[in-house]
Amino acid sequence: MTKVVFITGVSSGLGKACAGNLSEKGYIVYGTSRKPAGEQLPYKVIGMDVTDEQSVMAAVNEVIAAEGKIDVLINNAGIGIGGALENFSAEETQKQFDTNFFGMARAVRTVLPFMRAKKSGKIINISSIGGLMGLPFQGNYSAAKFAVEGFSEALSMEVKPFNINVVVVNPGDFKTGFTSNRVFTAKDSKGSDYDKHFRKAVTVIGKDEQGGSDPMVLARTIEKIIRKKNPHFRYIVGRFDQRLIARLKPFLPHSLMAWILSDHYKVG
Ligand SMILES: NC(=O)c1ccc[n+]([C@@H]2O[C@H](COP(=O)([O-])OP(=O)(O)OC[C@H]3O[C@@H](n4cnc5c(N)ncnc54)[C@H](OP(=O)(O)O)[C@@H]3O)[C@@H](O)[C@H]2O)c1
Repeated sequence: MTKVVFITGVSSGLGKACAGNLSEKGYIVYGTSRKPAGEQLPYKVIGMDVTDEQSVMAAVNEVIAAEGKIDVLINNAGIGIGGALENFSAEETQKQFDTNFFGMARAVRTVLPFMRAKKSGKIINISSIGGLMGLPFQGNYSAAKFAVEGFSEALSMEVKPFNINVVVVNPGDFKTGFTSNRVFTAKDSKGSDYDKHFRKAVTVIGKDEQGGSDPMVLARTIEKIIRKKNPHFRYIVGRFDQRLIARLKPFLPHSLMAWILSDHYKVG
């Protein structure tokens, strides 16, 4: 039976590459995004905002009505809000978490009853290397991705008896729309005491992303995960040095990690 894949955030970047690749490989793909698809696509795009409970429910129900099941949920939708942690308003912090953490949790809660009923499924949560280490001036982005990590670890054990696999994917830097879609806190946009380091870090972040890997690299990893009967819990994808530092981090003292990251982002 052909697998039905539901991917959040397919209007650009990693989600778009995954949706295109999976539909080319014969999967039935439903993608979602807030922006309507402006082109003919080989998969169906449903308008959905992950921050809106009703819209998530409506999108999931539409797929269930058409296909009777969702075999794979890929939580990919995400945004980046950059800035010094001190400069984040409560609303800006909430917005970052609402998409990257609560949006993922909302989709999981909505899809799970249908996966449990079939006693099978895969939930693939797109975290980040920033979900394994706190990145300067992307602090709340990292915090929301750390939350995705804890949620996914716990979820993997809770749904295992229902034959549902949970997988976390940690991309390094990828060349997508993420850089141009990133917004900054109101205080950082106006200029603050953090300006000197903030501006240097933002330049490095943008260069890293735009010089990053091709989204198809990630799309192929996702395809591999879907094909595997028993995938690993974690896949770190991207440049070798970024995969290496993510693997080494648990063994390094914080002072060394902080030195490496501060030096890289020119905030030391
Ligand atoms: N690019 C990288 O270097 C990188 C590295 C590590 C992790 N990641 C993660 O990879 C994921 C995809 O990012 P990307 O690089 O492909 O960025 P992107 O090109 O900006 O794509 C983000 C996607 O998320 C969707 N989205 C954002 N807010 C949404 C909302 N409230 N409801 C529904 N969809 C929403 C966007 O669609 P609409 O705006 O049309 O809704 C878009 O399709 C994110 O979770 C990101 O954190 C990216």
